Amino acid sequence: MIADLVIRNGTVVTPEADFIASVAIADGRIIAVGDDAAMPAAAETLDATGLHVLPGVIDVHVHFRDPGYPHKEDFGTGTAAAAFGGVTTVFDMPNTIPPTGAADVLAAKHAIASASAHVDYGLYGLLGEDTIGNVDELVAGGVIGFKLYMGNTFGKIPSPSTGAMLEAFEVVAPTGKRVSLHAETNSIMELRETRLRAAGRIDALAHLAARPAVVAVEAVSRAAILAEWTGARVHILHISSAAELRPLAEARARGVDITGETCPHYMMLSSEDYARLGGVIRVNPPVREKSDHEPLWRALADGLIDMIATDHAPHAPEEKTRNDIWTVDCGFPGVETQMPLMLTEVARGRFSIRDYVRWSAANPARIWGLAPRKGAIRPGADADIAIVDLAARWTIDDMKLQSRSKITPWHGREVRGLPLHTLVRGRFVMRDRRLQADARGWGRSVHEIQNMPPAAPRNVDLSLASVTRPPEG
Ligand code: NCD
Ligand code: ZN
Repeated sequence: MIADLVIRNGTVVTPEADFIASVAIADGRIIAVGDDAAMPAAAETLDATGLHVLPGVIDVHVHFRDPGYPHKEDFGTGTAAAAFGGVTTVFDMPNTIPPTGAADVLAAKHAIASASAHVDYGLYGLLGEDTIGNVDELVAGGVIGFKLYMGNTFGKIPSPSTGAMLEAFEVVAPTGKRVSLHAETNSIMELRETRLRAAGRIDALAHLAARPAVVAVEAVSRAAILAEWTGARVHILHISSAAELRPLAEARARGVDITGETCPHYMMLSSEDYARLGGVIRVNPPVREKSDHEPLWRALADGLIDMIATDHAPHAPEEKTRNDIWTVDCGFPGVETQMPLMLTEVARGRFSIRDYVRWSAANPARIWGLAPRKGAIRPGADADIAIVDLAARWTIDDMKLQSRSKITPWHGREVRGLPLHTLVRGRFVMRDRRLQADARGWGRSVHEIQNMPPAAPRNVDLSLASVTRPPEG
């Protein structure tokens, strides 16, 4: 067999090992990993000597704003940013216009994404109080999972009551799909924001004051209880505080299928950066204290937090630089800067490149049932690959980012590590730091669960559907 491409003599990284090897690719899949002399003949070769060959990042939390907010981002620009960040699969959030909560809206988003995506993608379905009845049609229409907003954030999606959330979990549990949670309790932060506004606070730190860690702790705890009761699989998005780790660990210890992500900003920025960054740092949940950093790093290291995601949340500069913090849009881009920010910590010796691959690719693939097809450099897997120069030193410049949003808290930050080439199913989508012309529309939806234990719903006889079913006969 003649391979389409052999990537020669790079350092291949898996969660267990890194070793010099060549990688042969045919028809979009990896067909061999090993000694260069053992590789098949190839139509094309790429010399990766001195470079690292990583499984492409799976970023399970991005907001590409399409349809609805074309001035912030669209699927084309968002996935171009992904390609430049070494990201080969993204999961896109449903807070677009209209929200992705019904089959027709989902179908329209699939059409947009398949026409313009440069990388593969999963689409989240919205699990809101009024979309619980749409779960089956959303699963049939192809969602990677569901998103439930326990608290208000950008897009003003109403948060379901605890009663509706229980019903939502009951309905999703038998599908085996994971419910990803924006775990901030609305009533706590709403009251605090009202009082802070009444007291005249409009400074950036007022945003943090409105959302202390207890907002997240309460939400994680409650979500874990409902997940345990129903058997629904859940995922805690953007873990921001040390305090959330206890309810997460306790639920895990009880056997709840609960996973978690954190983002670079929660480990690299703190309350000390608010004065410098102003509204640019405004994000939900808020960036917290320096004392949260170490516990979050440790939780990643010991596996309590499963992965790194970005919550890529682009906005226009004008929307991020208003004086009154309550009028500033929440979030900032991240899909393109996560890898260099994290690789800088690898260069500093905080963790290994193998750890990075576990958190950025292997664990997300396993947790959403995309393994063994995605998230690994191994024969049979999709050839989703980032080829990276770990030694490159450069400075993040917002104006040079692919995202339409040219404003991030990372502007001016010096980093180590640069993705030089990104392949999605064997095709270069970014090569030598250039977007490839034929990459647009190459991205495909991933939503079939391939390799997961069967769904395990619990207390089914007590579910709302069961107790309201008319008696037989
Ligand atoms: C996100 C957005 O802008 O869509 N904003 C944010 O502050 N994180 C929404 C979200 O993930 O909460
Ligand atoms: Zn969120």
